[in-house]
Amino acid sequence: MKTEESKNTTVSLERRHDVSQNPMCLSGKGITRIFGTGKKQNVAVDHVDFEFREGELVSIVGESGSGKTTLSKMLLGLLEPTEGEIFFRGEKRDISTRAKKKEYWKNIQAIFQDPFSSFNVFNKIDTVLLDCINMTGGKKLPKEEKVRLMTEACSFVNLKFAELTNKYPFELSGGQMQRLMIARIFLLKPKILLADEPTSMIDACSRATILDMLLNLRDEIGMTVIFITHDIGLAYYISDTVYIMEHGRFVEHGLADEVILTPKAEYTKRLISDVPKIHEVWDLSTV
Ligand SMILES: Nc1ncnc2c1ncn2[C@@H]1O[C@H](COP(=O)(O)OP(=O)(O)OP(=O)(O)O)[C@@H](O)[C@H]1O
Ligand SMILES: [Mg+2]
Repeated sequence: MKTEESKNTTVSLERRHDVSQNPMCLSGKGITRIFGTGKKQNVAVDHVDFEFREGELVSIVGESGSGKTTLSKMLLGLLEPTEGEIFFRGEKRDISTRAKKKEYWKNIQAIFQDPFSSFNVFNKIDTVLLDCINMTGGKKLPKEEKVRLMTEACSFVNLKFAELTNKYPFELSGGQMQRLMIARIFLLKPKILLADEPTSMIDACSRATILDMLLNLRDEIGMTVIFITHDIGLAYYISDTVYIMEHGRFVEHGLADEVILTPKAEYTKRLISDVPKIHEVWDLSTV
């Protein structure tokens, strides 16, 4: 029989959403990024088109070096595309000034491979969380309300705020740190969350818990989640849609079921053949 804990860590296909009628959130046309010049030129992202809708959980799957992080950085506005246009909620994204960039960043947040890089190590945890409240217009709230919000965010990810207030991020374990990142997102409630291999540093059990929390958060605040991974099996179980990336190009995209159960591109077939049991229900708690 399953324990409460293992039940919570089963990633279920039933959690997919039909987002086909939702408004467009983020899209791109011909997005390209070239590094270097001349013989050393490297086309990291090569004319990709994409359309992500509100509330969609989309995975971008590809091997190391396929251009996933480069694309993420362009979506975040940290790197300029060499060519192509990004649209946010149907309009051409304009982040040409500092103020416009700041405004855009209220809508999009990221969690990265390495949680240690996500926090200023000199800020205590309550400062990290308070910053989120201040950033979303809660600066003038009474102290008790701020504490209530921080406590709520911590309990969403099974952390106890009272035990964390005086700690620094580096005093947390890797798993706790990942959960703190999700607590931040819970407070910030961005329109878009970009998660670049957020579970790669942690063990299978914490990994399942983190994924479960991400899925809960998506249900709770209806954000678009762009999940970047090498792992096509994982992408299958959590995503509404997937984009398969090879050498900077999208070779195939569509509903997770269609792409993964009836793949067309050779590259997708190869990625799938590396996953032993893709058609069976995947209980992460037993990994
Ligand atoms: N700042 C940079 N300058 C030059 N080349 C870069 C830079 N960033 C990435 N590249 C190159 O772009 C290509 C794509 O890299 P990218 O980091 O986007 O891949 P990835 O799909 O995220 O890989 P991984 O799965 O290993 O994280 C690689 O060939 C990489 O060497
Ligand atoms: Mg990467």
